[in-house]
Amino acid sequence: MPVRPILRMGHPILRQVAAPLPKTAFGSAALMALITDMVDTLAEAGGIGLAAPQIGVSVRVAILQFRGGPTRYGHLEPMPLSVFVNPTISVLDPSTAGYWEGCLSVPGLRGLVERPQSIRVQARDPEGNPIDLIRSGFPATAFQHEFDHLDGVLYVDRLSDSRQLVFESELHHVLPDA
Ligand code: NI
Repeated sequence: MPVRPILRMGHPILRQVAAPLPKTAFGSAALMALITDMVDTLAEAGGIGLAAPQIGVSVRVAILQFRGGPTRYGHLEPMPLSVFVNPTISVLDPSTAGYWEGCLSVPGLRGLVERPQSIRVQARDPEGNPIDLIRSGFPATAFQHEFDHLDGVLYVDRLSDSRQLVFESELHHVLPDA
């Protein structure tokens, strides 16, 4: 299947709580087709992650990848494209850090969001095998952003100061090395 349109803020599907994937769906052709569409769509759009509701499918599936290496968020460990089904997050340390987040469903904007920086991620892979990860720093923020989509939450809901929502073209005013 081809690249799918990415829903933009205002589309009601982005505000729904997505349904958990039933056990019977693991390893199914339908799930593999959905994941292929998500991978193709993310590759075309560019970005770190995509959640199924962003292409109009209200189920609890998200994909993420980190290229790794030096970034303005510090040195990132690479993570190959990975699929997370029915994920949950536990906060291991409530201390937060803020990052200028962007979202393919909110194109052209960036917002400063504070989130906990040490989390445990538990999920299933597409075959139903358990995933259990501990992540800190920027990846912790990225996981929380993507999994928020599964609960109908967008990063703009989590701004602590609406003045810290800016157009990408103006980001250099608040983030000099952007
Ligand atoms: Ni997003």
